[in-house]
Amino acid sequence: MDLMLKLRPSFFFSFLIFIFLLQKPNLGSASSPKCISTERQALLTFKQSLTDPSGRLSSWSRPDCCKWRGVCCDRRTSYVIKIDLRNPNQTLRRNGEFRNGSLGGKIHPSLTRLKFLSYLDLSSNDFNFTEIPEFVGHIVSLRYLNLSFSSFSGEVPASFGNLSKLESLDLYAQTLPLSLPSSANLKLLEVLDLSRNYFYSPTPNWLFDLTSLRKLFLQLVRLQGSISPGFKKLKLLETLDLSKNELSGEIPAVLGDLPRLKNLHILDLSENKLSGSVPKCMGNLTAITLDLSRNRFSGAIPQSLAAISSLHTLNVSYNKLEGSIPKQLKFKDPSIYAGNELLCGKPLSKKCARKQQDVVVN
Ligand SMILES: *[C@@H]1O[C@H](CO)[C@@H](O)[C@H](O)[C@H]1NC(C)=O
Ligand SMILES: *[C@@H]1O[C@H](CO)[C@@H](O)[C@H](O)[C@H]1NC(C)=O
Ligand SMILES: *[C@@H]1O[C@H](CO)[C@@H](O)[C@H](O)[C@H]1NC(C)=O
Ligand SMILES: *[C@@H]1O[C@H](CO)[C@@H](O)[C@H](O)[C@H]1NC(C)=O
Ligand SMILES: *[C@@H]1O[C@H](CO)[C@@H](O)[C@H](O)[C@H]1NC(C)=O
Ligand SMILES: *[C@@H]1O[C@H](CO)[C@@H](O)[C@H](O)[C@H]1NC(C)=O
Ligand SMILES: *[C@@H]1O[C@H](CO)[C@@H](O)[C@H](O)[C@H]1NC(C)=O
Repeated sequence: MDLMLKLRPSFFFSFLIFIFLLQKPNLGSASSPKCISTERQALLTFKQSLTDPSGRLSSWSRPDCCKWRGVCCDRRTSYVIKIDLRNPNQTLRRNGEFRNGSLGGKIHPSLTRLKFLSYLDLSSNDFNFTEIPEFVGHIVSLRYLNLSFSSFSGEVPASFGNLSKLESLDLYAQTLPLSLPSSANLKLLEVLDLSRNYFYSPTPNWLFDLTSLRKLFLQLVRLQGSISPGFKKLKLLETLDLSKNELSGEIPAVLGDLPRLKNLHILDLSENKLSGSVPKCMGNLTAITLDLSRNRFSGAIPQSLAAISSLHTLNVSYNKLEGSIPKQLKFKDPSIYAGNELLCGKPLSKKCARKQQDVVVN
């Protein structure tokens, strides 16, 4: 009995030391993965063809490339898995700090030697309207690719259709005529931002094959024609931004018959040329944000909008809406009704609102 009591604590401490020894090599490799020399060479070649006026890549000379700024390696294998070279001064676009912080020059194909690269962010840099290199589409391990605001031009290379693991693609504000190969194999793509590019056409059909999409941003891409019924194929959509385009015609039934798009929380149709009445079936949305402002919608605001219990933000300003505001609508900010022929247009005074309740019965 005595012996047992003596043994126990010492056993306990040996056990702790055993655990500690087991953990230590792991901890060691987690904090300093050893960079693979061929990958280091590939990164150096990549660096050499870039311009870097503010010296953001000055750490890219040390022996362990896993410790270079913007580079991350896998903890266990030490392969490079992430390159984040986003310009930190992106919010200062208009001034010298942005330009100074921008990388430029050429993107070297040595990047394709990084077989496990899954994250590449080159956004907010300045590639001086060169084309997006075709070989970026050969880095098939990519899951996240951000080239937004980095002054590329030309078309999206056809090779992008082979990025079958891609979950997020941001091409915001390039000067790209947008098209993807019809055989695009982007089945896992969840986030796609093509805003502020040149489109000049109806919504291209290849978009509707991207059935994993959750967030789709098509702001200011000069979309023309009516809202395509194809959107109903994107059943997982949470955010749909079609604002600042030249869309015309009525909101098609599919956009209102949205029990199908039951995840759609943000719908931005503002600044288009949409007309007709706001469909009653919009009330089937589970939207949190609904922006219909600056279009040509006419008729009355449907009572059904008030039935969207989750609606947090509504904007119907600058349309041709008439009649009274459904009293059940909880939005009291007059600016969201401005620029219409609504009763109690501007401002929506308390007195007026009360009067309006008298008018609106059911
Ligand atoms: C560019 O950035 C570097 C480092 O941040 C700084 O030393 C240099 O003065 C900057 N040059 C200009 C023109 O802003
Ligand atoms: C970003 O801008 C700040 C000043 O706003 C400057 O100090 C810094 O050096 C800039 N960074 C780069 C990478 O140019
Ligand atoms: C891409 O980078 C920009 C900044 O350059 C950022 O604002 C944007 O959210 C990023 N896109 C995605 C999809 O993460
Ligand atoms: C950008 O490209 C133009 C020609 O397309 C060239 O004249 C100019 O020197 C380039 N600027 C830089 C910073 O490389
Ligand atoms: C894309 O993949 C197809 C086959 O899946 C292949 O034939 C083609 O060469 C690839 N294209 C590029 C540009 O990598
Ligand atoms: C959708 O809206 C229409 C018109 O308001 C309504 O008749 C229909 O019952 C709604 N469907 C669902 C599933 O809510
Ligand atoms: C509603 O939309 C108008 C026009 O697009 C805009 O000026 C106004 O700020 C918006 N109001 C709110 C509360 O978002």
